[in-house]
Amino acid sequence: QAAEKGGYAHFMLKEIHEGPRTVQDTLRGRLAKEERIAFPGLSLTPQDLQRFERIAIVGCGTAYHAGAVGKRWLEQWLRRPVEISVASEFRYSDPIVGPDTLVILISQSGETADTLAAMREAKARGATTLAIVNVIGSTLAREADAVILTQAGPEIGVASTKAYLAQLVVLALLGLFLAQLESPGGLPPHLQTLVSALPEMPQLLERCLQQEEAIKALARKLVSSKSFFYLGRGLDYATALEAALKLKEISYLHAEAYPAGEMKHGPLALIEPGVAVIGISTQSLTREKMESNLKEVKARQGTVVVVEPEGVVSDGADERIVLPSAPDYLMPILAIAPLQLLAYYIARERGCDIDQPRNLAKSVTVE
Ligand code: G6P
Repeated sequence: QAAEKGGYAHFMLKEIHEGPRTVQDTLRGRLAKEERIAFPGLSLTPQDLQRFERIAIVGCGTAYHAGAVGKRWLEQWLRRPVEISVASEFRYSDPIVGPDTLVILISQSGETADTLAAMREAKARGATTLAIVNVIGSTLAREADAVILTQAGPEIGVASTKAYLAQLVVLALLGLFLAQLESPGGLPPHLQTLVSALPEMPQLLERCLQQEEAIKALARKLVSSKSFFYLGRGLDYATALEAALKLKEISYLHAEAYPAGEMKHGPLALIEPGVAVIGISTQSLTREKMESNLKEVKARQGTVVVVEPEGVVSDGADERIVLPSAPDYLMPILAIAPLQLLAYYIARERGCDIDQPRNLAKSVTVE
């Protein structure tokens, strides 16, 4: 096993470091000439897209969190409603899906029982099902109407890292591809900018990972915190959900993600010395609001860590994690990497069994 870990102490750390290559592999062959997105093998026509009045995204755990990012991307880029559901809830919710619905199911393994049940329910109701899956030949890949493969390679660590990145990249490509189908004259400039920026992501992600030593030091400062909040707005809230899950899964510390603006409606009562608050602030639209939300935390003596792009310095943070700058829409692809590392190093400080956390399984095949 030591050889398989390639010199890393854990599969999780190895897989975090495989992030940039995973992004590159997932982009390969899908960014065609003249900066157009291509999905060889996916036969969706503009007429199909017109038929889909509704889009639903379904997944569990990390895959669900990738879907939470995807929901915002697709909704904004296609200007149509996109719903997101946890697979175990979707199935028994008498979902409003039918022949006019595209149901996107996201799963690393393609074997999660709840996600399979959700797919079968959607198919039974006449929806078109599209699986975003990492394992070729998995049940989800075989049964869905259409499949897009993420190219993360085998993921061994129970806590998903590189597969999440690959899911984000596929969702970004898919959103831009669908927008392209709708605009025969070419994408509007604000979306074309994203197509041009995608090839830069592996290298920017590599820069995020270069902060490893600083993050290790930050983990040592935070490890004795009694509780963690991850705050964000919009896309950053989706990142907060995934970052909090990483910490819970492998360190057994209590971590909760909250939309930053909602803190004052309850959870602010929990803030006191010894509570760590990670504020994710990558979106220019909400930066000032985030800053004032974090000041409210600081005033109650919580420890504030802000995650923000270079060139931006929020007031009042105790610690900063700096990200390379990229278009706001693509920041979730960068922001998660240092937070995966932070969860990893906090768990390591606590001596946890990182690759095999207690009570958890890599693939959950019971409902
Ligand atoms: C388990 C794993 C998670 C994963 C979830 C969904 O809970 O521990 O890491 O996100 O299942 O798995 P899937 O294979 O469907 O993405």
